[in-house]
Amino acid sequence: MKNFLDQCRDAIGPAHVLTGEKDTASYLTDWRQRFTGKALAVVKPASTDEVAAIVRLCNQFQVPVVPQGGNTGLVLGSVPDTSGSAIVLSLTRLNRIRFIDPISNTMTVDAGCILEQLQNAAAEAGRLFPLSLAAEGSCTIGGNLSTNAGGTAVLRYGNTRELCLGLEVVTAQGEIWSGLRGLRKDNTGYDLRDLFIGAEGTLGIITAAVLKLFPQPKAQLTALAAMRTPDDALRLLSLAQNHCGAALTGFELMSQLCLQLVTKHFPQMQLPFAEESAQYVLLELSDSESEEHAMAMLESVIGNALEQDVIQDAVVASSIAQSKSLWNLREHITLAQAAEGKNVKHDVSITISRIGDFIRETDILLQQNFPGCRMVTFGHLGDGNLHYNVSPPENASDEAFIAQQDAVNRVVHDSVHRFGGSISAEHGLGALKRDEIRLYKSDVEIQLMQSIKRTLDPMNLMNPGKVL
Ligand code: FAD
Ligand code: MLT
Ligand code: ZN
Repeated sequence: MKNFLDQCRDAIGPAHVLTGEKDTASYLTDWRQRFTGKALAVVKPASTDEVAAIVRLCNQFQVPVVPQGGNTGLVLGSVPDTSGSAIVLSLTRLNRIRFIDPISNTMTVDAGCILEQLQNAAAEAGRLFPLSLAAEGSCTIGGNLSTNAGGTAVLRYGNTRELCLGLEVVTAQGEIWSGLRGLRKDNTGYDLRDLFIGAEGTLGIITAAVLKLFPQPKAQLTALAAMRTPDDALRLLSLAQNHCGAALTGFELMSQLCLQLVTKHFPQMQLPFAEESAQYVLLELSDSESEEHAMAMLESVIGNALEQDVIQDAVVASSIAQSKSLWNLREHITLAQAAEGKNVKHDVSITISRIGDFIRETDILLQQNFPGCRMVTFGHLGDGNLHYNVSPPENASDEAFIAQQDAVNRVVHDSVHRFGGSISAEHGLGALKRDEIRLYKSDVEIQLMQSIKRTLDPMNLMNPGKVL
C-alpha cells in the first residue's frame, strides 16, 4: 500500500505537498518568531473536495492536522508541535470569491481569501466589509473566523462571528457540511456555525463562508486626541457615544510609550502634537449623511472634551492621507514593540467602566514585582479590550525578562480575573494560553468544551494540543 504522503500527492498533485526544509520553513514558525515546530509535510489543497480527501487520509493514517491560514496568529495556534507527526494544512490556495449578492448584502468566499482582498472586493461592489486589523494584508478569512478575530471596527460591527451568516466545513472525519445558505434567520436546532467559529481549528476545517456586507459610509473622519489618563479616555468615549451614536466606528487607546516606540522604530512617522501626553485616543466616525455632518459631530465632541478638560489637544485629519498616517501610528505598535525586542503580550477584556481601575492597580502590582518593566498598553478601548503588554526594563536582557513570563502572566491574569474579565479577548488560546485558561474557567465549562471536542473529533486529529 502506498504511504500517507504518496496518497496526499495523488490527491492534490505532488507540487502541493511540501517536505523540503526551505519550502516548509515559513509555515513552521509563528509570526512573533517565538516557536518553531516540525511537520511531516505542508499540504496545500486547492478546493473543498481536496481538503476533504486529505482529511480522510489523515483519518486513515491517524495523522494530526494543523490548519493554517496566513499564520499571523499570536497564540501559537497555527504552527505544529515539535513531534513532526502532524501535517500543516495550508488553506491559502482556496482563494476564490464565489459570489457577491449586493441586494442580500452578502459575499460567499473561500476560507483562504486574504482579508484585504475581501475588503477590496466589497468596495468594488459598492459595499463595506468592515472587519479590519493590522494583519489584514496577510491574514485569511478562515483564520479570522477560526479565531473570531476582533480588530478596530468591533465597536460598530462586532467580531468576525457577528459578520458571518454561514459556513462550509470539512469535518474531522473528512465529510463536507455545507451551511452556506446565508439566511439572516434560521432557528432549526443547535447553531453549528457558531461552534466552528472561534474553535481555532480544533473541531474541523472551515473551507468557505457567507459574510455580511454593509452600505459604504458617505464620509469617514479620523481624529487623534491627547489626554492625561485612561479614565479621561473613558470620559471621551461617553461624550463621543452621546454625540455620535452608531457613527462612532473606532475608539483606540494608545499610551505614550506605544507611540514613542512607533516613532523610534519608524522615524518617518511623527506625532502631530508639539508636546507629549500620557495617553492618546484615535477616533473614527463613519457617517451615512455627508462629510459636513460628520465634521460637525466630531468638532462638537472635541470642543466639548476640550472645554471640560477631558482632553488637552486634538487633531482631525483633513485628508485621506492624513487619516492614513494617524491610523499608521496605531497599526505599527505591534511591529514597533517587536522591533524593540521581546515582550510579554496580553490580550484582555474588562468591563469598560473598570478599565481605568484595572490599569492603575495592575501597573502598581507589576512595578512591585518587576521594577522598571515598561507598559505598552493599547487597544480597542471601546470594546473593553486592552493589549496590556509588558516590555523589559530599558537596558535589561530580553531573555532574563522572558524567563519570568509565567510570573508576569500570573500577576496580570489574576488581576483580570479579580476584575471579572477575560484573559483572551480576541487572539484565542492556541497552545500559548491552553494551560493558563484552566486556572480561570470552571471545571463545568472545561468539561463541556471537552465533551464537544470528543464528539466532533473523537480521534483528536484536529489541531491537537491547542485550546484544550
Ligand atoms: P492563522 O494564524 O493561520 O491561524 C489562526 C488559528 O486559526 C489557528 O489555530 C489555525 O489552526 C486556525 N485556522 C486557520 N485557518 C483555518 C481554517 N480555514 N479552518 C480551521 N481553522 C483554521 N487579531 C485580532 O483579533 N485583532 C487584531 O486587531 C489583530 N491585529 C493583529 C495585528 C498584527 C500585526 C498581527 C501579526 C496579528 C494580529 N491579530 C489580530 C492576530 C491575527 O491576525 C488574527 O488572529 C487572525 O484572525 C489570524 O488569521 P490567519 O489567517 O493568519 O490565521
Ligand atoms: C492589535 O490590536 O493591534 C492586535 O490585536 C495586535 C497585538 O495585540 O499586538
Ligand atoms: Zn487587537
